[in-house]
Amino acid sequence: MIRLKNIYKAFGSLEVIKDISLDINYGDVVSIIGPSGAGKSTLLRCINCLEIADQGEMQIGDYHININKMTKSDIQWIRRNTGMVFQGFYLFNNKTVLQNITEGLIVVKKVKKNEAKKKALKMLEQVDLLEKKDCYPSSLSGGQQQRVAIGRALILEPKILLFDEPTSALDPELVNEVLVLIKKLAGQNQTMLIVTHEINFAKNVSDRVCFMDQGTIIEEGPAIEVINNPKNKRTQQFLDALKH
Ligand SMILES: Nc1ncnc2c1ncn2[C@@H]1O[C@H](COP(=O)(O)OP(=O)(O)O)[C@@H](O)[C@H]1O
Ligand SMILES: [Mg+2]
Repeated sequence: MIRLKNIYKAFGSLEVIKDISLDINYGDVVSIIGPSGAGKSTLLRCINCLEIADQGEMQIGDYHININKMTKSDIQWIRRNTGMVFQGFYLFNNKTVLQNITEGLIVVKKVKKNEAKKKALKMLEQVDLLEKKDCYPSSLSGGQQQRVAIGRALILEPKILLFDEPTSALDPELVNEVLVLIKKLAGQNQTMLIVTHEINFAKNVSDRVCFMDQGTIIEEGPAIEVINNPKNKRTQQFLDALKH
């Protein structure tokens, strides 16, 4: 399982993550919803060590880390074992779709080129983009680019895949193809933590939903319960405001 314990992060005097604890079982999908500025992106970035939290503990499988005593090799281990998909794709624009997918295998995992290519072709089938393998990202739609980004993260076999508003930059008609892919991964028991504003999707795909506000997880529970029947007033207000 993946366990966050008492995670704390401030930028100067601004406390952005205040004592967050969260357990995610392997194979589970957990979504985080909440207003802009709540600290959702920062939390994901701390899990992936793109940002280093100030305090707390992390456990991924048998690997325990006390953030205060984190070494360079801990950070490397975390980055290798967690994957991140961003709102803005961040593909390598000077590389083809296939090269985007093989890059991590070759550079990070030191897989031989031939082997990497074989695996990447399989991955492209999985994200339904095999016919685009020799295209450059700029010739793809946003939805296709995001599916490449998902394939690129997935091929490194992360113990958890983190999504930061994966559909927020997409034109409305392209949102669905990305959600369908994430739903398929959920069906394959890929462990995922998803920050999203797509409330119906969150309800549909997640085992659990967390509502986050002002650096704290205010409410957490089974997806249907939190979204259909929130107990906390702030969760209620947030969900009500989305309906209007
Ligand atoms: N690198 C940073 N330096 C200073 N403040 C930051 C930094 N990153 C985020 N913040 C601040 O932390 C708060 C939470 O941001 P963020 O995690 O992006 O929230 P969310 O993703 O929920 O919208 C915001 O007030 C934001 O301005
Ligand atoms: Mg954010």
